[in-house]
Amino acid sequence: MSSTATALAHANIAFIKYWGNRNTELRLPVNGSISMNLRDMDTRTRVTFDPSLGEDSLTLNGEPQVGHALERVHRLLSRVRAMSGLRHFAAVDSENTFPMGAGIASSASAFAALSLAASTAAGLALPERALSRLARTGSGSASRSIPAGFVEWHTGSTHEDSCAASFASPQHWDLADCIAIVSAEHKATGSTQGHTLAPTSSLQGSRVESAPQRLEICRTAILKRDFTALAEVAELDSNLMHAVMMTSTPPLLYWQPATLAIMHAVQRWRGQGTPAFYTIDAGPNVHVITQQPHVKEIEGRLRQIPGVKDVLVATPGGPAQIV
Ligand code: PMV
Repeated sequence: MSSTATALAHANIAFIKYWGNRNTELRLPVNGSISMNLRDMDTRTRVTFDPSLGEDSLTLNGEPQVGHALERVHRLLSRVRAMSGLRHFAAVDSENTFPMGAGIASSASAFAALSLAASTAAGLALPERALSRLARTGSGSASRSIPAGFVEWHTGSTHEDSCAASFASPQHWDLADCIAIVSAEHKATGSTQGHTLAPTSSLQGSRVESAPQRLEICRTAILKRDFTALAEVAELDSNLMHAVMMTSTPPLLYWQPATLAIMHAVQRWRGQGTPAFYTIDAGPNVHVITQQPHVKEIEGRLRQIPGVKDVLVATPGGPAQIV
């Protein structure tokens, strides 16, 4: 008999970034990270284990996938089969509500939704920590899309203790992420490969060594709703990660001219009293974080910057859920 489940998970934006693994196979990170889930930036995934299937299959936004994407999904499904004792192959059908591969962490929502849907369809009722661990093995940042709201992924030292937990609910703070889309094209070097290059930068050691201080400042700023403190530490952390990327061998240069134009504009706006800061993932798009009453103003200003193709807006999101 076949068994099926559908799950929905949100993307997340990291204020303290994950960049580099201690264990590539298990995706055990070199430093902890902190993020906010993004409501309406969703992946919805249906998993059906079926005895009549001869192999695992994946469709993404209606397109059948082969190669690397299917291989990553197959590896996670095999982990779920090993945990549950189920032997059947699965059909996976996944839809995203945002552009893939351009600095919005589509792999985070994808592997969080896949982990919840696959484990549920296989009859496992995994607690949040176990789900976060499972999602982590598919994509590190996916561990943070399992719990709700504002989330910290603790480095841990083993597979067992490297997982994410919520420290503030989505209602805790009315932040918003205005994502300036500079390019919606698929990036040349994805984060899986990027993590392996991190240790080639001579700056990575000092970034990792000083990460605990930034995690502490960031966690406290969020708990106290201190926008200025969060802005300063998040911009610093994003700049540190991009400094490592740019000084890796080979170097990773994700910024486009419009990326830098937005960074300058955001710092100018903050200087003039508008709450806004930038943070950038492995792509050219810029996440401009503000408070909800300022969304229209920020969105309007971003749209005037040459090179900005679109602006998407997201507020803090809840946990991954069965739908
Ligand atoms: O989860 P991955 O392997 O796609 O890595 C995500 C890396 C960044 O998005 C650049 C930073 C982060 O912490 O989300």
